[in-house]
Amino acid sequence: MSGTIYILMDGEAVPQDQAVIPVTAPAVAYASAVFEGIRAYWSDRDRQMYVFRLDDHLRRLQFSMRAMRYGVQYELDALRQQVLKAIRVNELRQDIHLRMTALITGTTAITTSAPVLLAVTAGPYPPNQWVDRGMAVGVSSWQRVHDSSSPPRIKATANYSNGRLAMLEAKENGYDAALMLTREGKVAEAPVATCFLVRNGQVLTPACTDGILESITRDTLIKLFNEELKTPVQERSVDRTELYDAEELFLCGSGWEVTPVASVDRIPMKVAAPGSITRRVRDTYLKAVRGELPGRQEWLTPVW
Ligand SMILES: Cc1ncc(COP(=O)(O)O)c(C=O)c1O
Repeated sequence: MSGTIYILMDGEAVPQDQAVIPVTAPAVAYASAVFEGIRAYWSDRDRQMYVFRLDDHLRRLQFSMRAMRYGVQYELDALRQQVLKAIRVNELRQDIHLRMTALITGTTAITTSAPVLLAVTAGPYPPNQWVDRGMAVGVSSWQRVHDSSSPPRIKATANYSNGRLAMLEAKENGYDAALMLTREGKVAEAPVATCFLVRNGQVLTPACTDGILESITRDTLIKLFNEELKTPVQERSVDRTELYDAEELFLCGSGWEVTPVASVDRIPMKVAAPGSITRRVRDTYLKAVRGELPGRQEWLTPVW
């Protein structure tokens, strides 16, 4: 890693302290911004960095921009090159997290849809401290945003006010994280992760129509469960009380990878965290992201 941290601003490497936007930008005034959180992993074996499912993240960013009626659209390759450049200019050869944000700059009006500034940050990510003991999770009193108001399928920064309220409440109540319910009372997701549970031996995850971001990690795990672990996953609405009756529960996302949960609302999972299914899928996932799972190279974009 080089001494100065560079942020890519519209493709230009700018020292971190100079990577600023005006307070008048709609991105600041109205949270008019959409983004992606992406991981890249260093493989000692291959002496290579791999960005995990880069094109899938970039397609989701394109979708978010289209759905929010941005006045500018980017080709996939142009986006891809910016992500790779952010890693290269910072000379990163370690496990990292990247954030690509499309910010509406321009005049302060709620309908402004251009110009758009693309910012890419890249840097180390703290190690997961819950792998061995599991998180204490509390069901939030805050409802998850709904497709009819602030659609969770769109990765808009505005949605994270909802997650922030839930997370602050959870911390205040002594939990490590929150799980939010839909207005119909079904399990949606955590503020920065989706969830899977194992109940009566069956792996379940809330349906994409139950207030979740269509998570790339969730999709990866469904494929790994089906194809590597020969364990089918049921995607369906999940009731709150099913959480209390589950053997295992884990949260997943690009940042949190696969994070075991030890209890919900202080009710311990029926199997002490991390349970065997959580451990198996986590191990398989971590092999996939580092290029150690045969047949999954199409998920990896090499950097160097
Ligand atoms: C609200 C929310 N749900 C789920 C996820 C997991 O999504 P992904 O696996 O695509 O990172 C994230 C992650 O960043 C998120 O912010």
